[in-house]
Amino acid sequence: MGKQERPAPGQHAGADRLPSAEDPARQDDSCHDEVFERISQVVLAVASQLSVRDVLQMIVRSARSLADAEYAALGVPDERGSFAEFVVDGISARQQAEIGPLPRQHGMLAVILQEGKPLRFDDIRTDPRFWGWPAAHPELTDVLGVPILEGSRVIGFIFAACKHTPGGFTERDERMLSLFAAHAAIALTNARLFERARELSVLEERARLARDLHDAVSQKLFSVRAKARAAAMLVPRDPARAVAEIDSVAALAGEAHAELRAVIDGLAPPDLAASGLAGSIRGYAVLAGRTYGKAVRVEAGELPDLDGQRETVLYRVAQEAISNALRHSGSKDVRVRLTARQRAVVLEIADHGTGFDPGGAHGGVGLSSMRERAASVGGTLMIRSSPGEPTTIRLSVPVQHR
Ligand SMILES: Nc1ncnc2c1ncn2[C@@H]1O[C@H](COP(=O)(O)OP(=O)(O)OP(=O)(O)O)[C@@H](O)[C@H]1O
Ligand SMILES: [Mg+2]
Repeated sequence: MGKQERPAPGQHAGADRLPSAEDPARQDDSCHDEVFERISQVVLAVASQLSVRDVLQMIVRSARSLADAEYAALGVPDERGSFAEFVVDGISARQQAEIGPLPRQHGMLAVILQEGKPLRFDDIRTDPRFWGWPAAHPELTDVLGVPILEGSRVIGFIFAACKHTPGGFTERDERMLSLFAAHAAIALTNARLFERARELSVLEERARLARDLHDAVSQKLFSVRAKARAAAMLVPRDPARAVAEIDSVAALAGEAHAELRAVIDGLAPPDLAASGLAGSIRGYAVLAGRTYGKAVRVEAGELPDLDGQRETVLYRVAQEAISNALRHSGSKDVRVRLTARQRAVVLEIADHGTGFDPGGAHGGVGLSSMRERAASVGGTLMIRSSPGEPTTIRLSVPVQHR
């Protein structure tokens, strides 16, 4: 018989344990391993540079898995009675589309937001405050909801619904969901601070740009205009001097052009300038893969020099396609390939997942923004996918000839 561990004083036992198979000790170990792993993934995600949405998604997925629930969701209300973020796990994208638009802050969601403390329902439908749900919404019975708090202010909630193990949600589930709610609060606060810092740096950047443009270009253009006028007046009287003036107009215009070019080149995202395109994509792939516990392999060959705009487009499309493959495809691994062709740089993101209908897919803004970005540099975006088939996204960006 396996070794039976006694709970330490103060440690919860009984209902806190998952049902044991033949070997309870081993079962406990692997259960603890999963708890540590999930929590560590969430902590890493919170500390990473992933989008807040990816982090919240990770939190909801971990909460659902550890609470052994059929569904989980996380909502962050906005000021207009709806939700700034509403991420769910346990429901397919298609089901979500059928359910319809985001919920409003009413019914039981409002109750969880107003109470500001954990709530447990054996059957949420029997609560007098229950309003019902849209036709395609799954039937929820037992529900555990906890607030996400920033100080004493409720900034959102997490709930888990329909526990697989009989007996409903436990004290331990509540503590765990509260732990994830604390992580979500950090992620949301970080995101807000980050956004504020970004706004400030955008303002600083604008001021710097205005200064650079003034120093480099505006003053030169002023001289160009003065010299051009002088040349025009000299033409009838002193054509030789007029020609000299026109030559110096051309030289000044050339300088202004070169300096403008330098200002424009300085506008490339700093990340790309520092680590290069392949390095930046690799960096994102590692972080995002770790968050979802999946492998993202990046292969990159020698690339020609690309301007800032093309690099940005390639980077953003890679980011969105990797994120989509990790979030939606269910594939265990994702492959990214960046190759140089004769007149183009080609980016491919492939997964072995569930696939989807690119013509009918509606979800977020990801697919359409990838198309727009591709078009903005004269590139082509191809989405090869259909339900049940693996997905490949292929972006080809023509290489400019300077
Ligand atoms: N690699 C993929 N595998 C399976 N389904 C996918 C894949 N990529 C996209 N989809 C489907 O296409 C839908 C639309 O994708 P899109 O990127 O436009 O939106 P989103 O990812 O749901 O939200 P957003 O990108 O705005 O955060 C997704 O919701 C998903 O159903
Ligand atoms: Mg997307």
